[in-house]
Amino acid sequence: MHQVNLTDNIYYVGVNDRKTHLFENYWPLDKGMAYNSYLIVDEKVALVDTVERNFIDDYLDNIDNILEGRKVDYLIINHMEPDHSGAIRAIVSRYPEITLVGNKKTFPMLSNYYQIKDNTLEVAEGDELKLGNHTLQFYMTPMVHWPETMVTYEVSNQILFSADAFGSFGALDGGIFDDELNLDFYEEEMMRYFTNIVGKYCPHTQRALKKLEGLSIKMIAATHGPVWRTDLNYILSRYQKWSSYETKPGAVIVYGSMYGNTEKMADAIARQLAVRGVKNIKVYDASKTHPSYIISDLFKYKAFIVGSCAYNNEMFPTVETLLTKIEHMGVKDHLLGIFGSYTWNGGGVKNINKFAEKIKWEVVNEPVEEQGALKKDKYEQCIELANAMADKLL
Ligand code: FEO
Repeated sequence: MHQVNLTDNIYYVGVNDRKTHLFENYWPLDKGMAYNSYLIVDEKVALVDTVERNFIDDYLDNIDNILEGRKVDYLIINHMEPDHSGAIRAIVSRYPEITLVGNKKTFPMLSNYYQIKDNTLEVAEGDELKLGNHTLQFYMTPMVHWPETMVTYEVSNQILFSADAFGSFGALDGGIFDDELNLDFYEEEMMRYFTNIVGKYCPHTQRALKKLEGLSIKMIAATHGPVWRTDLNYILSRYQKWSSYETKPGAVIVYGSMYGNTEKMADAIARQLAVRGVKNIKVYDASKTHPSYIISDLFKYKAFIVGSCAYNNEMFPTVETLLTKIEHMGVKDHLLGIFGSYTWNGGGVKNINKFAEKIKWEVVNEPVEEQGALKKDKYEQCIELANAMADKLL
């Protein structure tokens, strides 16, 4: 069995999940997922976070492989979401004298999820826990990703155990450290993970980044994705950019279309944007592409152009789902274009307009709405919309 060392006495004991189709039963895991956990061996032994419950046997084997019979003294619970807390019962059962370390928001969750109330140690901002040569410090990072989320900083090796922050979708296929991986492979999955899982909490992420600026960090060990030990700026700069809604000139065009009429409008707009010199254009059928991929691109590009046919006086359902998600995430600072089609009394454009009022992005040009198939005058209005958007982008 391989032992994976972060340092002489700090080990990676996480697991890969290539079985689960949907993370949180919603987000597609095309490339799997890693649930990372870490073990610090000193006069006292500490585990940092656990793993998803389906991997408990492998996880306990990973720990046994290193400890060879020694007990675990502390479990640091940085985050209570079950992809990391799922093995807590198993750990408590194996090490009944273990002390569970969390903050005041951790323990009600621990009780509610697992009915565990004993042997807890509550820590607050900046508190320290000495394990021997290793000292742990705790910093609260609420809403990155849940209210109780905190990070743990190991002082002697300057390692930040960052919970979900700086994580990624994707299993760790052999390589665990950033210098062992082709990061191009992970780039899209890192962004899709951040934007969809943490993206609602960009202001909280900004506050957390500010707080962590004061620490000297040599390694970032998140609960998902690679361990960063070589090029920390790679991930830190991306989190800075993503959480401040920094976008490139480009357009995400999304449509809901039953019979192709709204789709034709999307194609007309996309073509004219390209003619005008906009290079970054992504066109998505909302019925085909999961919202997570579209939302990830929304964080990349400034313009969002959305179209819907009418469906029982409403938006098309898949467009409605996407826009509801975007509205709840509170994504900021985009340019919005609107189009759609209908057969008798509409519903698509009318309801996208309601979304526009709530999201408060700048609406570019008048919405374009066609009755039935796309005809010359509305085609020309699509071109006008594209031109107005190109003027803003370029
Ligand atoms: Fe990876 Fe919010 O749990």
